[in-house]
Amino acid sequence: MLITEMSTARETRQRVHGVTYRYELDKYPFREELEKLFGLDLQDLHLWLGDFEKFDRKNDQQTIVHRVFYSNYSKIIEPIYKDFVTDFVSQIIDFPFSYQVIPTFRIGLPGNRFVGEYHTDAKYNHPDFELNFNIGLSNYLKPCCLMSEKVSNTREFYPLECDNGEIFSFNHIDCVHGSDINTTDQTMVSMDFRVAMIPFYKEIDAKSVNMNSSFKIGDYFSKEIINS
Ligand SMILES: [Fe+2]
Repeated sequence: MLITEMSTARETRQRVHGVTYRYELDKYPFREELEKLFGLDLQDLHLWLGDFEKFDRKNDQQTIVHRVFYSNYSKIIEPIYKDFVTDFVSQIIDFPFSYQVIPTFRIGLPGNRFVGEYHTDAKYNHPDFELNFNIGLSNYLKPCCLMSEKVSNTREFYPLECDNGEIFSFNHIDCVHGSDINTTDQTMVSMDFRVAMIPFYKEIDAKSVNMNSSFKIGDYFSKEIINS
């Protein structure tokens, strides 16, 4: 389903909430490159981390695995991510957008949850002009995948599963979402990123709670505008 501009940002997001798109793994080998970097299957990452306290929002980006990801980001992932946004995401979005410069890397360890608490991103000051995408890389399945309301304020949750080679869009601003404990014996791994929908973009002063960068084009979002 092509992502087209509706009359509001919220309607635009909700229309494609939970819609999955398939991409070519040989063109955008995120998982393969990360497995080369870590030297193991992503699903086995937990085997090398020892015991870990349950995540909350403050420490869910702090493990050595996250540090290795971000330290190698510009060499390993950025070239693929840039092509992915420019050549693939540009085809599924029908209007100009700017994209999150560095995607967020997430792991869900067995016995743990990968999102610290159920929330809407509106609660974390994220602006209404955003659209969110998740890329499942390993074990992005029930019970450890993202759980989200189908419609905001209903408190009825469903799993958003995502195989390697798939990406889904979802309404992170209005629908409450989170994750449950990973009761499997495999690590869940994913990346996610937001785009700023230019038709709805307004410069605002709010800052990301986790990153301390402002949600502006040229800061959190790329200077480059795709589909312009
Ligand atoms: Fe969120």
